[in-house]
Amino acid sequence: MNKIGIFFGTDSGTTRLMAKKMSKLLGDAAAKPVNVNRSTADDLLQYDALILGTPSYGINQLPGKSTKVADGCWEEFMPQLQGADLSGKTIALYGLGDQEKYPDRFAHSLIHLYDWCMAGGADVIGQWSTEGYTFDHSPSVVDGEFVGLILDQRSQSLLTDERLAAWINRIKPTLLAKLAN
Ligand SMILES: Cc1cc2nc3c(=O)[nH]c(=O)nc-3n(C[C@H](O)[C@H](O)[C@H](O)COP(=O)(O)O)c2cc1C
Repeated sequence: MNKIGIFFGTDSGTTRLMAKKMSKLLGDAAAKPVNVNRSTADDLLQYDALILGTPSYGINQLPGKSTKVADGCWEEFMPQLQGADLSGKTIALYGLGDQEKYPDRFAHSLIHLYDWCMAGGADVIGQWSTEGYTFDHSPSVVDGEFVGLILDQRSQSLLTDERLAAWINRIKPTLLAKLAN
């Protein structure tokens, strides 16, 4: 597919809003963002360049019905994708969290998308510095960096647009190069 696929899960809509902002920043190169609760594995796997986003709910898991996301989320979608061959795919990840309220497990759900990408052999891009965030622990930090862009609309909403623009600027050339291949 000659576009960048953007797939997100959400409960209260913030992760969707972020997907829409990313799509706008990417312009024509991006396909319309899709909620994973309305998506099939084939919908997602048709793309070679992807952005995947999740909020954080529960403890050490992806959000879904067991974390009271009534419409379903990554927890329900991920079983369809288990074992998928992601080699040749370039994937950037983003996660939503609340560092003030959940400093001991800030943006924890994103690590599960990262683990899935790594297990499938994807090229994960868009790692992001922890500088400017205040928290005690996040499983989504690997080798001193977040595995993707972390946005906190609860405690640091004023920084969101700047972070988004910087991150998209950084990953866009790599994603576009993937489309040209
Ligand atoms: C019940 C509940 C549990 C949450 N658990 C966590 C958490 O463990 N870690 C975290 O960083 N944020 C947590 N959050 C914050 C959400 O991830 C954050 O508000 C996010 O922006 C929600 O995204 P959404 O509107 O797309 O559902 C929680 C929020 C709620 C309401």
